[in-house]
Amino acid sequence: MADIEATIAQFHPEAHSEQTGRVMEVGDGVARIEGLRNVRLNEMINFGNGIIGLALNLEENSVGVVVLSGAETIREGQIVRSTGRLLEIPCGHAMLGRVVDPLGRPLDGKGPIETTEVNPVERPAPGIIGRQSVFSPLQTGILAIDAVIPIGRGQRELIIGDRATGKTTIAIDTIINQSRINREAEIAVDNQTHPVYSVYVAIGQRQSSVAQVVRALEMNGAMKYTVVVAATASDSAAMQYLAPFSGTAVGEWFMDHGMDALAVYDDLSKHAVAYRQMSLVLRRPSGREAYPGDIFYLHSRLLERSTCMSKGCGGGTLTSLPIIETQNGDVSAYIPTNVISITDGQIYLESDLFHQGIRPAMSVGISVSRVGSAAQTKAMKEVAGKVKLELAQYYEMKEFAQFGSDLDSKTVALIEHGKRITELFKQVQYNPFPVEEEVVQLWAAQQGFFNNVPVAKTREVRTKFLEFVRIRRKALLQLIVQEKKLTPEIKAALEEVTAEYQSMA
Ligand SMILES: Nc1ncnc2c1ncn2[C@@H]1O[C@H](COP(=O)(O)OP(=O)(O)OP(=O)(O)O)[C@@H](O)[C@H]1O
Ligand SMILES: [Mg+2]
Repeated sequence: MADIEATIAQFHPEAHSEQTGRVMEVGDGVARIEGLRNVRLNEMINFGNGIIGLALNLEENSVGVVVLSGAETIREGQIVRSTGRLLEIPCGHAMLGRVVDPLGRPLDGKGPIETTEVNPVERPAPGIIGRQSVFSPLQTGILAIDAVIPIGRGQRELIIGDRATGKTTIAIDTIINQSRINREAEIAVDNQTHPVYSVYVAIGQRQSSVAQVVRALEMNGAMKYTVVVAATASDSAAMQYLAPFSGTAVGEWFMDHGMDALAVYDDLSKHAVAYRQMSLVLRRPSGREAYPGDIFYLHSRLLERSTCMSKGCGGGTLTSLPIIETQNGDVSAYIPTNVISITDGQIYLESDLFHQGIRPAMSVGISVSRVGSAAQTKAMKEVAGKVKLELAQYYEMKEFAQFGSDLDSKTVALIEHGKRITELFKQVQYNPFPVEEEVVQLWAAQQGFFNNVPVAKTREVRTKFLEFVRIRRKALLQLIVQEKKLTPEIKAALEEVTAEYQSMA
Protein backbone atom coordinates (compact mmCIF):
# COMPACT_ATOMS: atom_id res chain seq x y z
CA MET A 1 0.00 0.00 0.00
CA ALA A 2 2.76 2.40 0.92
CA ASP A 3 3.95 2.26 -2.67
CA ILE A 4 1.41 4.90 -3.66
CA GLU A 5 3.41 7.43 -1.69
CA ALA A 6 6.52 6.12 -3.36
CA THR A 7 4.79 6.51 -6.72
CA ILE A 8 3.86 10.08 -5.97
CA ALA A 9 7.36 10.83 -4.74
CA GLN A 10 8.97 9.10 -7.70
CA PHE A 11 7.04 10.93 -10.38
CA HIS A 12 6.38 14.18 -8.56
CA PRO A 13 9.09 15.11 -6.09
CA GLU A 14 7.49 18.53 -5.87
CA ALA A 15 4.15 17.14 -4.80
CA HIS A 16 4.84 17.17 -1.08
CA SER A 17 4.73 20.86 -0.44
CA GLU A 18 0.97 21.06 -0.89
CA GLN A 19 -1.86 22.11 1.38
CA THR A 20 -3.19 20.25 4.34
CA GLY A 21 -6.79 19.75 5.37
CA ARG A 22 -8.77 17.95 8.05
CA VAL A 23 -11.29 15.12 7.84
CA MET A 24 -14.70 16.44 9.00
CA GLU A 25 -16.60 13.21 8.49
CA VAL A 26 -16.07 9.88 6.84
CA GLY A 27 -18.45 7.12 5.81
CA ASP A 28 -19.33 4.86 2.88
CA GLY A 29 -15.90 5.42 1.38
CA VAL A 30 -16.33 9.18 1.16
CA ALA A 31 -14.47 11.70 3.33
CA ARG A 32 -15.51 15.31 3.70
CA ILE A 33 -12.45 17.50 4.12
CA GLU A 34 -12.16 21.09 5.29
CA GLY A 35 -9.25 23.42 4.73
CA LEU A 36 -8.28 22.37 1.21
CA ARG A 37 -8.89 25.58 -0.66
CA ASN A 38 -7.19 25.28 -4.02
CA VAL A 39 -7.84 21.67 -4.72
CA ARG A 40 -8.75 20.68 -8.28
CA LEU A 41 -11.40 18.29 -9.52
CA ASN A 42 -9.93 14.76 -9.75
CA GLU A 43 -6.88 15.77 -7.70
CA MET A 44 -5.22 13.06 -5.61
CA ILE A 45 -5.59 13.54 -1.87
CA ASN A 46 -3.08 11.78 0.34
CA PHE A 47 -4.43 10.32 3.61
CA GLY A 48 -1.07 8.82 4.56
CA ASN A 49 -0.35 5.10 4.98
CA GLY A 50 -0.72 4.64 1.26
CA ILE A 51 -4.37 5.66 1.30
CA ILE A 52 -5.35 7.86 -1.56
CA GLY A 53 -8.56 9.67 -2.44
CA LEU A 54 -9.96 11.59 -5.37
CA ALA A 55 -11.41 15.07 -4.92
CA LEU A 56 -14.75 14.81 -6.69
CA ASN A 57 -17.12 17.24 -5.00
CA LEU A 58 -15.76 20.75 -4.69
CA GLU A 59 -18.04 22.67 -2.37
CA GLU A 60 -17.76 26.06 -0.76
CA ASN A 61 -16.43 25.01 2.63
CA SER A 62 -15.49 21.43 2.08
CA VAL A 63 -14.28 18.91 -0.46
CA GLY A 64 -15.92 15.51 -0.99
CA VAL A 65 -13.18 12.94 -1.47
CA VAL A 66 -13.80 9.41 -2.64
CA VAL A 67 -11.36 7.09 -0.95
CA LEU A 68 -10.02 4.46 -3.31
CA SER A 69 -9.23 1.78 -0.75
CA GLY A 70 -8.71 1.45 3.00
CA ALA A 71 -11.41 3.98 3.94
CA GLU A 72 -12.13 2.04 7.18
CA THR A 73 -8.89 3.25 8.74
CA ILE A 74 -9.63 6.96 8.23
CA ARG A 75 -10.65 8.86 11.39
CA GLU A 76 -12.39 12.16 11.90
CA GLY A 77 -9.97 14.97 12.61
CA GLN A 78 -7.19 13.27 10.69
CA ILE A 79 -4.90 15.57 8.69
CA VAL A 80 -4.67 15.00 4.94
CA ARG A 81 -2.59 16.56 2.19
CA SER A 82 -3.50 17.59 -1.30
CA THR A 83 -0.89 16.59 -3.85
CA GLY A 84 -1.48 19.15 -6.57
CA ARG A 85 -1.55 16.25 -9.02
CA LEU A 86 -4.29 14.65 -10.99
CA LEU A 87 -4.42 10.90 -10.86
CA GLU A 88 -1.87 9.21 -13.10
CA ILE A 89 -1.05 5.66 -14.07
CA PRO A 90 2.30 4.15 -15.11
CA CYS A 91 2.48 3.40 -18.85
CA GLY A 92 4.76 1.98 -21.48
CA HIS A 93 5.93 -1.36 -22.82
CA ALA A 94 6.78 -2.48 -19.29
CA MET A 95 3.04 -2.69 -18.57
CA LEU A 96 2.56 -5.47 -21.12
CA GLY A 97 2.02 -8.87 -19.58
CA ARG A 98 0.96 -7.35 -16.29
CA VAL A 99 -2.22 -7.31 -14.23
CA VAL A 100 -2.66 -4.04 -12.36
CA ASP A 101 -5.27 -2.17 -10.37
CA PRO A 102 -6.63 1.20 -11.62
CA LEU A 103 -3.71 2.97 -9.92
CA GLY A 104 -1.21 0.83 -11.81
CA ARG A 105 -0.21 -1.23 -8.78
CA PRO A 106 0.69 -4.82 -9.71
CA LEU A 107 -1.86 -7.46 -8.74
CA ASP A 108 0.06 -10.34 -10.27
CA GLY A 109 2.88 -10.69 -7.75
CA LYS A 110 5.45 -10.28 -10.51
CA GLY A 111 7.25 -7.43 -8.76
CA PRO A 112 7.42 -3.72 -9.48
CA ILE A 113 6.85 -2.35 -12.98
CA GLU A 114 9.97 -0.73 -14.33
CA THR A 115 8.82 2.39 -16.11
CA THR A 116 9.12 6.12 -15.73
CA GLU A 117 6.29 6.87 -18.14
CA VAL A 118 2.94 8.03 -16.80
CA ASN A 119 -0.31 9.25 -18.31
CA PRO A 120 -3.12 11.14 -16.61
CA VAL A 121 -6.07 8.87 -15.95
CA GLU A 122 -8.45 11.53 -17.25
CA ARG A 123 -7.59 13.79 -20.12
CA PRO A 124 -9.52 15.46 -22.89
CA ALA A 125 -10.05 13.49 -26.09
CA PRO A 126 -7.90 14.51 -29.08
CA GLY A 127 -9.35 17.36 -31.14
CA ILE A 128 -10.99 16.78 -34.51
CA ILE A 129 -8.07 18.32 -36.40
CA GLY A 130 -5.65 15.71 -35.12
CA ARG A 131 -7.85 12.83 -36.19
CA GLN A 132 -8.49 11.02 -39.43
CA SER A 133 -11.13 8.53 -40.46
CA VAL A 134 -10.39 4.87 -39.93
CA PHE A 135 -8.61 3.15 -42.78
CA SER A 136 -6.86 0.12 -41.36
CA PRO A 137 -8.73 -3.03 -40.29
CA LEU A 138 -8.72 -4.42 -36.81
CA GLN A 139 -9.04 -8.12 -37.57
CA THR A 140 -11.03 -9.89 -34.89
CA GLY A 141 -10.41 -13.31 -36.42
CA ILE A 142 -14.12 -13.97 -35.91
CA LEU A 143 -15.48 -14.69 -39.37
CA ALA A 144 -19.00 -13.35 -38.77
CA ILE A 145 -17.63 -10.03 -37.55
CA ASP A 146 -14.79 -9.55 -40.04
CA ALA A 147 -17.13 -10.42 -42.91
CA VAL A 148 -20.29 -8.45 -42.19
CA ILE A 149 -19.49 -5.86 -39.52
CA PRO A 150 -15.79 -5.17 -39.95
CA ILE A 151 -14.04 -3.05 -37.34
CA GLY A 152 -11.42 -0.44 -38.16
CA ARG A 153 -8.51 0.66 -35.98
CA GLY A 154 -9.69 3.66 -34.01
CA GLN A 155 -13.34 2.62 -34.04
CA ARG A 156 -15.64 2.15 -31.05
CA GLU A 157 -17.71 -1.01 -31.42
CA LEU A 158 -20.12 -2.01 -28.68
CA ILE A 159 -20.61 -5.65 -27.71
CA ILE A 160 -24.08 -5.90 -26.22
CA GLY A 161 -26.16 -8.81 -24.94
CA ASP A 162 -27.70 -10.56 -21.97
CA ARG A 163 -25.81 -12.51 -19.35
CA ALA A 164 -23.70 -15.39 -20.64
CA THR A 165 -24.17 -14.77 -24.34
CA GLY A 166 -20.46 -14.81 -25.15
CA LYS A 167 -19.65 -11.10 -24.83
CA THR A 168 -16.33 -11.55 -23.05
CA THR A 169 -15.38 -14.36 -25.40
CA ILE A 170 -15.64 -12.08 -28.44
CA ALA A 171 -13.34 -9.55 -26.81
CA ILE A 172 -10.85 -12.19 -25.69
CA ASP A 173 -10.81 -13.83 -29.12
CA THR A 174 -10.09 -10.44 -30.65
CA ILE A 175 -7.17 -9.91 -28.26
CA ILE A 176 -5.88 -13.40 -29.02
CA ASN A 177 -6.06 -12.68 -32.73
CA GLN A 178 -4.00 -9.52 -32.25
CA SER A 179 -1.31 -11.55 -30.51
CA ARG A 180 -1.24 -13.96 -33.43
CA ILE A 181 -0.87 -11.03 -35.83
CA ASN A 182 1.81 -9.48 -33.60
CA ARG A 183 3.83 -12.67 -33.57
CA GLU A 184 3.67 -12.81 -37.35
CA ALA A 185 4.64 -9.15 -37.57
CA GLU A 186 7.72 -9.85 -35.47
CA ILE A 187 9.10 -12.35 -37.95
CA ALA A 188 7.82 -10.68 -41.12
CA VAL A 189 10.37 -8.94 -43.31
CA ASP A 190 8.07 -6.51 -45.09
CA ASN A 191 7.20 -4.48 -41.97
CA GLN A 192 3.68 -3.99 -43.32
CA THR A 193 1.74 -5.19 -40.31
CA HIS A 194 1.60 -3.00 -37.26
CA PRO A 195 1.11 -4.78 -33.97
CA VAL A 196 -1.90 -4.04 -31.79
CA TYR A 197 -1.39 -3.91 -28.02
CA SER A 198 -4.44 -4.70 -25.93
CA VAL A 199 -5.76 -3.42 -22.64
CA TYR A 200 -8.44 -5.54 -21.00
CA VAL A 201 -10.31 -3.62 -18.31
CA ALA A 202 -12.32 -5.75 -15.87
CA ILE A 203 -14.95 -3.77 -13.98
CA GLY A 204 -16.94 -5.18 -11.08
CA GLN A 205 -16.43 -8.82 -12.04
CA ARG A 206 -15.71 -11.65 -9.66
CA GLN A 207 -12.03 -12.19 -9.04
CA SER A 208 -12.32 -15.72 -10.40
CA SER A 209 -13.69 -14.44 -13.73
CA VAL A 210 -10.74 -12.09 -14.11
CA ALA A 211 -8.35 -14.90 -13.27
CA GLN A 212 -10.03 -17.04 -15.92
CA VAL A 213 -9.56 -14.32 -18.55
CA VAL A 214 -5.90 -13.91 -17.64
CA ARG A 215 -5.43 -17.66 -17.87
CA ALA A 216 -7.06 -17.80 -21.29
CA LEU A 217 -4.83 -14.97 -22.51
CA GLU A 218 -1.75 -16.65 -21.11
CA MET A 219 -2.57 -20.05 -22.56
CA ASN A 220 -3.03 -18.52 -25.98
CA GLY A 221 0.18 -16.53 -25.85
CA ALA A 222 -1.64 -13.19 -25.73
CA MET A 223 -0.64 -11.90 -22.30
CA LYS A 224 2.71 -10.81 -23.69
CA TYR A 225 0.94 -8.07 -25.67
CA THR A 226 -1.78 -7.29 -23.15
CA VAL A 227 -2.26 -5.20 -20.03
CA VAL A 228 -5.07 -6.19 -17.68
CA VAL A 229 -6.51 -3.44 -15.51
CA ALA A 230 -8.83 -4.90 -12.90
CA ALA A 231 -11.21 -3.49 -10.32
CA THR A 232 -13.26 -6.43 -9.12
CA ALA A 233 -16.60 -6.58 -7.32
CA SER A 234 -14.75 -6.59 -4.01
CA ASP A 235 -12.98 -3.31 -4.78
CA SER A 236 -14.50 0.04 -3.90
CA ALA A 237 -16.98 1.71 -6.24
CA ALA A 238 -14.38 4.43 -6.77
CA MET A 239 -11.82 1.92 -8.04
CA GLN A 240 -14.40 0.45 -10.40
CA TYR A 241 -15.28 3.93 -11.58
CA LEU A 242 -11.62 4.66 -12.33
CA ALA A 243 -10.76 1.39 -14.06
CA PRO A 244 -11.82 2.21 -17.64
CA PHE A 245 -10.22 5.64 -17.49
CA SER A 246 -6.98 4.09 -16.25
CA GLY A 247 -7.09 1.45 -18.95
CA THR A 248 -7.66 4.13 -21.57
CA ALA A 249 -4.65 6.06 -20.29
CA VAL A 250 -2.50 2.93 -20.71
CA GLY A 251 -3.83 2.44 -24.26
CA GLU A 252 -3.33 6.11 -25.09
CA TRP A 253 0.36 5.80 -24.36
CA PHE A 254 0.68 3.42 -27.32
CA MET A 255 -1.47 5.69 -29.48
CA ASP A 256 0.58 8.75 -28.47
CA HIS A 257 3.69 6.94 -29.62
CA GLY A 258 2.28 6.18 -33.06
CA MET A 259 1.27 2.61 -32.25
CA ASP A 260 -2.06 0.78 -32.32
CA ALA A 261 -3.92 -0.22 -29.19
CA LEU A 262 -7.19 -1.92 -28.36
CA ALA A 263 -9.15 -1.32 -25.16
CA VAL A 264 -11.87 -3.66 -23.91
CA TYR A 265 -14.18 -2.40 -21.15
CA ASP A 266 -15.86 -5.39 -19.52
CA ASP A 267 -18.35 -4.06 -18.72
CA LEU A 268 -19.79 -0.54 -18.72
CA SER A 269 -23.08 -1.65 -17.15
CA LYS A 270 -21.22 -2.47 -13.95
CA HIS A 271 -19.25 0.74 -14.40
CA ALA A 272 -22.49 2.72 -14.47
CA VAL A 273 -23.66 0.97 -11.30
CA ALA A 274 -20.39 1.80 -9.54
CA TYR A 275 -20.71 5.43 -10.60
CA ARG A 276 -24.29 5.55 -9.39
CA GLN A 277 -23.24 4.17 -6.02
CA MET A 278 -20.41 6.67 -5.76
CA SER A 279 -22.68 9.55 -6.70
CA LEU A 280 -25.26 8.52 -4.11
CA VAL A 281 -22.73 8.62 -1.29
CA LEU A 282 -21.51 11.98 -2.61
CA ARG A 283 -25.18 13.03 -2.34
CA ARG A 284 -25.42 14.10 -5.95
CA PRO A 285 -28.92 14.35 -7.34
CA SER A 286 -30.00 11.33 -9.32
CA GLY A 287 -31.98 11.15 -12.53
CA ARG A 288 -33.35 8.44 -14.78
CA GLU A 289 -33.10 4.90 -13.30
CA ALA A 290 -31.44 6.63 -10.30
CA TYR A 291 -28.26 7.19 -12.32
CA PRO A 292 -26.66 10.60 -11.88
CA GLY A 293 -27.49 13.04 -14.66
CA ASP A 294 -23.95 13.20 -16.02
CA ILE A 295 -23.59 9.49 -16.72
CA PHE A 296 -23.99 10.03 -20.46
CA TYR A 297 -21.15 12.54 -20.32
CA LEU A 298 -19.08 10.08 -18.29
CA HIS A 299 -19.26 7.39 -20.95
CA SER A 300 -18.95 9.75 -23.88
CA ARG A 301 -15.80 11.36 -22.54
CA LEU A 302 -14.39 7.88 -22.00
CA LEU A 303 -15.17 6.58 -25.49
CA GLU A 304 -14.27 9.82 -27.29
CA ARG A 305 -10.69 9.06 -26.38
CA SER A 306 -10.64 6.13 -28.81
CA THR A 307 -9.68 7.41 -32.22
CA CYS A 308 -7.44 7.23 -35.23
CA MET A 309 -4.81 9.98 -35.19
CA SER A 310 -3.76 11.64 -38.43
CA LYS A 311 -0.31 11.01 -39.90
CA GLY A 312 0.80 14.46 -38.77
CA CYS A 313 -0.13 13.57 -35.20
CA GLY A 314 1.78 10.31 -35.17
CA GLY A 315 -0.84 8.07 -36.79
CA GLY A 316 -1.50 6.03 -33.64
CA THR A 317 -4.90 4.47 -32.97
CA LEU A 318 -6.98 3.39 -30.01
CA THR A 319 -9.84 1.05 -30.81
CA SER A 320 -12.39 0.29 -28.13
CA LEU A 321 -14.75 -2.57 -27.49
CA PRO A 322 -17.04 -1.52 -24.66
CA ILE A 323 -19.34 -4.25 -23.37
CA ILE A 324 -22.88 -3.73 -22.09
CA GLU A 325 -24.98 -6.34 -20.37
CA THR A 326 -28.71 -6.12 -21.07
CA GLN A 327 -31.62 -7.53 -19.05
CA ASN A 328 -33.91 -9.78 -21.12
CA GLY A 329 -32.62 -8.29 -24.34
CA ASP A 330 -33.84 -4.80 -23.43
CA VAL A 331 -31.59 -2.51 -25.43
CA SER A 332 -33.82 0.49 -24.80
CA ALA A 333 -32.89 0.84 -21.13
CA TYR A 334 -31.03 3.99 -20.15
CA ILE A 335 -27.38 2.87 -20.10
CA PRO A 336 -27.62 0.68 -23.25
CA THR A 337 -29.20 3.49 -25.31
CA ASN A 338 -26.57 5.91 -24.08
CA VAL A 339 -23.66 3.72 -25.07
CA ILE A 340 -25.32 2.69 -28.35
CA SER A 341 -25.52 6.34 -29.31
CA ILE A 342 -21.89 7.00 -28.39
CA THR A 343 -20.37 4.08 -30.33
CA ASP A 344 -19.79 3.58 -34.08
CA GLY A 345 -21.54 0.25 -34.22
CA GLN A 346 -22.91 -2.63 -32.19
CA ILE A 347 -22.48 -6.37 -32.05
CA TYR A 348 -25.82 -7.70 -30.75
CA LEU A 349 -25.63 -11.07 -29.06
CA GLU A 350 -28.84 -13.00 -28.50
CA SER A 351 -29.60 -15.65 -25.90
CA ASP A 352 -31.85 -17.54 -28.31
CA LEU A 353 -29.11 -17.89 -30.89
CA PHE A 354 -26.64 -18.86 -28.17
CA HIS A 355 -28.92 -21.65 -26.98
CA GLN A 356 -29.55 -22.84 -30.55
CA GLY A 357 -25.80 -23.40 -30.73
CA ILE A 358 -25.14 -20.44 -32.98
CA ARG A 359 -21.93 -19.23 -31.35
CA PRO A 360 -20.82 -16.51 -31.48
CA ALA A 361 -24.50 -15.61 -30.96
CA MET A 362 -24.34 -12.53 -33.12
CA SER A 363 -27.54 -11.32 -34.71
CA VAL A 364 -26.41 -10.55 -38.24
CA GLY A 365 -29.58 -8.62 -39.05
CA ILE A 366 -29.28 -5.88 -36.46
CA SER A 367 -25.55 -5.75 -35.78
CA VAL A 368 -23.81 -2.87 -37.53
CA SER A 369 -20.47 -1.27 -38.06
CA ARG A 370 -20.84 2.28 -39.30
CA VAL A 371 -17.25 3.01 -40.20
CA GLY A 372 -15.35 -0.26 -40.39
CA SER A 373 -16.11 -1.24 -43.99
CA ALA A 374 -13.82 1.60 -45.07
CA ALA A 375 -11.04 -0.46 -43.54
CA GLN A 376 -12.01 -3.83 -44.99
CA THR A 377 -9.60 -5.23 -47.57
CA LYS A 378 -10.76 -5.49 -51.17
CA ALA A 379 -10.45 -9.26 -51.01
CA MET A 380 -12.79 -9.45 -48.04
CA LYS A 381 -15.22 -6.98 -49.60
CA GLU A 382 -15.41 -9.08 -52.71
CA VAL A 383 -16.26 -12.32 -50.94
CA ALA A 384 -18.33 -10.86 -48.09
CA GLY A 385 -20.10 -8.00 -49.84
CA LYS A 386 -23.30 -9.95 -50.47
CA VAL A 387 -23.35 -12.07 -47.33
CA LYS A 388 -25.39 -9.75 -45.15
CA LEU A 389 -28.10 -9.45 -47.80
CA GLU A 390 -28.06 -13.19 -48.48
CA LEU A 391 -28.52 -13.92 -44.82
CA ALA A 392 -31.35 -11.40 -44.51
CA GLN A 393 -33.12 -13.13 -47.42
CA TYR A 394 -32.42 -16.50 -45.88
CA TYR A 395 -34.02 -15.55 -42.55
CA GLU A 396 -37.05 -14.18 -44.34
CA MET A 397 -37.46 -17.22 -46.58
CA LYS A 398 -36.84 -19.64 -43.76
CA GLU A 399 -39.88 -18.29 -41.92
CA PHE A 400 -41.89 -18.38 -45.11
CA ALA A 401 -40.80 -21.92 -45.96
CA GLN A 402 -42.31 -23.25 -42.75
CA PHE A 403 -45.78 -22.70 -44.15
CA GLY A 404 -45.53 -24.53 -47.44
CA SER A 405 -43.48 -27.18 -49.12
CA ASP A 406 -43.57 -26.24 -52.81
CA LEU A 407 -40.78 -23.73 -53.06
CA ASP A 408 -39.20 -22.75 -56.33
CA SER A 409 -35.66 -23.86 -56.96
CA LYS A 410 -34.25 -20.37 -56.51
CA THR A 411 -35.70 -20.10 -53.00
CA VAL A 412 -34.46 -23.55 -52.11
CA ALA A 413 -30.97 -22.62 -53.27
CA LEU A 414 -31.10 -19.44 -51.24
CA ILE A 415 -32.13 -21.30 -48.11
CA GLU A 416 -29.50 -23.99 -48.56
CA HIS A 417 -26.83 -21.34 -49.07
CA GLY A 418 -27.98 -19.41 -46.00
CA LYS A 419 -27.83 -22.54 -43.89
CA ARG A 420 -24.24 -23.09 -44.86
CA ILE A 421 -23.14 -19.52 -44.28
CA THR A 422 -24.78 -19.73 -40.85
CA GLU A 423 -22.74 -22.87 -40.20
CA LEU A 424 -19.52 -21.20 -41.32
CA PHE A 425 -20.23 -18.31 -38.97
CA LYS A 426 -20.19 -20.71 -36.04
CA GLN A 427 -16.77 -20.65 -34.52
CA VAL A 428 -15.31 -22.19 -31.39
CA GLN A 429 -13.68 -19.86 -28.89
CA TYR A 430 -9.95 -19.12 -28.81
CA ASN A 431 -9.68 -20.05 -32.48
CA PRO A 432 -9.51 -16.88 -34.53
CA PHE A 433 -9.01 -17.25 -38.29
CA PRO A 434 -6.28 -15.39 -40.10
CA VAL A 435 -7.90 -13.00 -42.59
CA GLU A 436 -6.63 -14.95 -45.62
CA GLU A 437 -8.37 -18.10 -44.36
CA GLU A 438 -11.56 -16.11 -43.84
CA VAL A 439 -11.34 -15.00 -47.45
CA VAL A 440 -10.69 -18.52 -48.73
CA GLN A 441 -13.67 -20.10 -46.97
CA LEU A 442 -16.07 -17.34 -47.95
CA TRP A 443 -14.85 -17.46 -51.50
CA ALA A 444 -15.45 -21.21 -51.53
CA ALA A 445 -18.93 -20.74 -50.06
CA GLN A 446 -19.81 -18.15 -52.69
CA GLN A 447 -18.65 -20.55 -55.41
CA GLY A 448 -21.05 -23.17 -54.08
CA PHE A 449 -18.27 -25.36 -52.73
CA PHE A 450 -20.28 -26.34 -49.64
CA ASN A 451 -23.58 -26.87 -51.43
CA ASN A 452 -23.07 -30.59 -51.82
CA VAL A 453 -21.94 -30.97 -48.24
CA PRO A 454 -24.62 -31.91 -45.68
CA VAL A 455 -25.33 -28.87 -43.48
CA ALA A 456 -24.19 -30.66 -40.34
CA LYS A 457 -20.84 -31.43 -41.96
CA THR A 458 -20.14 -27.91 -43.20
CA ARG A 459 -17.78 -26.96 -40.39
CA GLU A 460 -15.92 -30.24 -40.51
CA VAL A 461 -15.34 -29.84 -44.24
CA ARG A 462 -14.27 -26.24 -43.71
CA THR A 463 -11.60 -27.35 -41.24
CA LYS A 464 -10.33 -30.05 -43.58
CA PHE A 465 -10.35 -27.78 -46.60
CA LEU A 466 -8.44 -25.00 -44.81
CA GLU A 467 -5.94 -27.55 -43.58
CA PHE A 468 -5.52 -28.76 -47.15
CA VAL A 469 -4.94 -25.24 -48.47
CA ARG A 470 -2.50 -24.50 -45.65
CA ILE A 471 -0.42 -27.55 -46.53
CA ARG A 472 -0.68 -27.45 -50.32
CA ARG A 473 -0.89 -23.72 -51.06
CA LYS A 474 0.93 -21.79 -48.39
CA ALA A 475 2.17 -19.37 -51.03
CA LEU A 476 -1.39 -18.68 -52.15
CA LEU A 477 -2.41 -17.72 -48.62
CA GLN A 478 0.56 -15.38 -48.41
CA LEU A 479 -0.31 -13.89 -51.76
CA ILE A 480 -3.83 -13.04 -50.55
CA VAL A 481 -2.29 -11.24 -47.57
CA GLN A 482 0.10 -9.32 -49.78
CA GLU A 483 -2.25 -8.39 -52.60
CA LYS A 484 -5.22 -7.61 -50.33
CA LYS A 485 -7.44 -8.24 -53.36
CA LEU A 486 -8.45 -11.20 -55.48
CA THR A 487 -6.33 -10.92 -58.57
CA PRO A 488 -7.10 -13.20 -61.57
CA GLU A 489 -4.02 -15.18 -60.60
CA ILE A 490 -5.33 -15.73 -57.06
CA LYS A 491 -8.76 -16.71 -58.32
CA ALA A 492 -7.28 -19.24 -60.72
CA ALA A 493 -5.21 -20.74 -57.93
CA LEU A 494 -8.26 -20.89 -55.66
CA GLU A 495 -10.21 -22.70 -58.35
CA GLU A 496 -7.37 -25.12 -58.83
CA VAL A 497 -7.03 -25.93 -55.16
CA THR A 498 -10.79 -26.42 -54.66
CA ALA A 499 -10.92 -28.78 -57.63
CA GLU A 500 -7.94 -30.64 -56.27
CA TYR A 501 -9.57 -30.98 -52.85
CA GLN A 502 -12.86 -32.15 -54.34
CA SER A 503 -11.16 -34.77 -56.45
CA MET A 504 -9.49 -36.16 -53.34
CA ALA A 505 -12.52 -36.10 -51.06
N1 LIG B 1 -17.98 -19.30 -29.71
C1 LIG B 1 -18.18 -20.05 -28.63
N2 LIG B 1 -18.12 -21.39 -28.73
C2 LIG B 1 -18.32 -22.16 -27.65
N3 LIG B 1 -18.57 -21.69 -26.41
C3 LIG B 1 -18.64 -20.38 -26.25
C4 LIG B 1 -18.45 -19.49 -27.34
N4 LIG B 1 -18.57 -18.24 -26.89
C5 LIG B 1 -18.82 -18.34 -25.56
N5 LIG B 1 -18.86 -19.62 -25.17
C6 LIG B 1 -19.09 -20.10 -23.80
O1 LIG B 1 -20.24 -19.50 -23.27
C7 LIG B 1 -20.07 -19.13 -21.92
C8 LIG B 1 -20.37 -17.66 -21.74
O2 LIG B 1 -19.41 -16.90 -22.45
P1 LIG B 1 -18.88 -15.50 -21.92
O3 LIG B 1 -18.35 -15.62 -20.55
O4 LIG B 1 -17.99 -14.97 -22.96
O5 LIG B 1 -20.25 -14.70 -21.91
P2 LIG B 1 -20.56 -13.27 -21.27
O6 LIG B 1 -21.69 -12.74 -22.06
O7 LIG B 1 -19.32 -12.47 -21.18
O8 LIG B 1 -21.05 -13.71 -19.84
P3 LIG B 1 -21.24 -12.78 -18.54
O9 LIG B 1 -22.58 -12.15 -18.70
O10 LIG B 1 -21.22 -13.78 -17.42
O11 LIG B 1 -20.11 -11.83 -18.50
C9 LIG B 1 -18.66 -19.49 -21.56
O12 LIG B 1 -18.66 -20.69 -20.86
C10 LIG B 1 -17.97 -19.65 -22.89
O13 LIG B 1 -16.95 -20.61 -22.81
MG1 LIG C 1 -18.42 -11.54 -19.56
